[in-house]
Amino acid sequence: MSDTYEQLLRKTCPLPQQNFELKNGSLHFHGLPLLDLVKTWGSPFKLTVLPHIRHQIQQARQYFSAAFQRPYGNIPVKQRPYYGKYHYCYCTKSNYFTPVLEEVCRQGAGLETSSAFDVDLLFHLHQKGSLPPALPIIHNGYKTEAYLQKILQVRRLGIADNILILDSHVEWQRLQKLLHEHPLPAPMPIGLRMATYAEPGSPYHTSRLGLRAEEILPFYEKEIRTCDKVQLQMLHFFVDAGIRDEPAYWAELHKALDIYARLKKQCPSINALNIGGGFPIQRDWHFDYDFRQMTQKIVQTVFQHCRDQKIPEPDIYTEFGTYTVGESGATVFKVLEHKLQNEGEHWYILDNSLLNTLPDIALMKERFLLLPLNHWDKPPLRVQLGGLTCDQADFYPPQGIGKELFLPALSSRELQEEPLYIAFLHTAAYQDALGGYGGLQHCLIPSPRQIFVTETADGKPQALLFKEEQDVDGMLGLLSV
Ligand SMILES: Cc1ncc(COP(=O)(O)O)c(C=O)c1O
Repeated sequence: MSDTYEQLLRKTCPLPQQNFELKNGSLHFHGLPLLDLVKTWGSPFKLTVLPHIRHQIQQARQYFSAAFQRPYGNIPVKQRPYYGKYHYCYCTKSNYFTPVLEEVCRQGAGLETSSAFDVDLLFHLHQKGSLPPALPIIHNGYKTEAYLQKILQVRRLGIADNILILDSHVEWQRLQKLLHEHPLPAPMPIGLRMATYAEPGSPYHTSRLGLRAEEILPFYEKEIRTCDKVQLQMLHFFVDAGIRDEPAYWAELHKALDIYARLKKQCPSINALNIGGGFPIQRDWHFDYDFRQMTQKIVQTVFQHCRDQKIPEPDIYTEFGTYTVGESGATVFKVLEHKLQNEGEHWYILDNSLLNTLPDIALMKERFLLLPLNHWDKPPLRVQLGGLTCDQADFYPPQGIGKELFLPALSSRELQEEPLYIAFLHTAAYQDALGGYGGLQHCLIPSPRQIFVTETADGKPQALLFKEEQDVDGMLGLLSV
């Protein structure tokens, strides 16, 4: 057994890493000493480092730009080997906070929406002057009448360069009715979503989202080609398991390319392939996903297919959610108590609920990176973390993921003298939306503070309190008229 927690950790986790390091015995995340934030604001809190979002967007653009410039196979190097352009869009549902959306918009990245209220968010950004003109906006998700009306309103007002992705036949009927009742001055740009194979564990073979691959051409020929109120511009697909170098992913890409080529031969206006989200983030100490190579393989596959089919290469759109925001976030807790339930069963009780703040732990058995902020010189102890609610599921690590959790060993008395703080890292994607941040929380445990890190004019990180801890009036207000 190692003498100190630090010695044990370094056996499996090389430090420093790109987003975190240990300096003078304290944890730094994206260059920020987290203990300083604890001293200023206490615990618990959620932190989002906005400059990292910019970094992610710029990186992805570089991957695609490099892949577009590379010659392939026997094709001679030309000035511009790939004909189409790359468009980075951000899937808003992964983190809806205004500073996040504004940071994305500042980078000129497009957005992807999922519901009627999501379009209201666009109106809000537009009113604030945060939405650059002609920003590409992709409307995905199920199109209720309210959602469709708002999408058409965006087009009518010319707020963005939006495109509506059709998901089902009934959506199409709703859209036709609305376009008939309130015609637009020019055809509405649309895309078609191809349903992919569903994840293992799903009760069905095909995802409910989108049109079955074999339906798409007949649907285009029967419905879209003859309708002058819409113009087909995009084919969309999304593999829920993510962009992985696995046969299942390449099979979906080939299926989509086959449909794209057949559509292109009948429909000159289609010019874009949207491959959805799915770039991963670091979830363990040794993260070796090769983004550059994966992008290269995707672009090469698209390129080759289009050359074989003698059609121009499409513009490529992505809608990265997790990749855009995930690594910019951390969730910090204090350990309130060390509780020994049985021989070898050590519980560290935290000052908020894991179920409410990081719901993917219970929902998906998600593993996050986890490090202490201090006490790295103490011996390591195998522990379980317990949240503040009375729910059995409010603990970490989840069972069945084959991971033990070690943290610095402190008795309850030592914790009173100098508390232990811990941080789950890379937590900024989806957790607040799934946990209903600021709403009615399990056992009425308040949502923690939110801190956002921006940059000063001379490029130094600056932490600002964005939302105070949820107060009792706010929560009780939800419970009564
Ligand atoms: C259509 C669509 N695009 C993009 C995304 C974002 O995926 P990720 O967060 O894996 O990048 C999702 C996530 O569910 C999605 O449904």
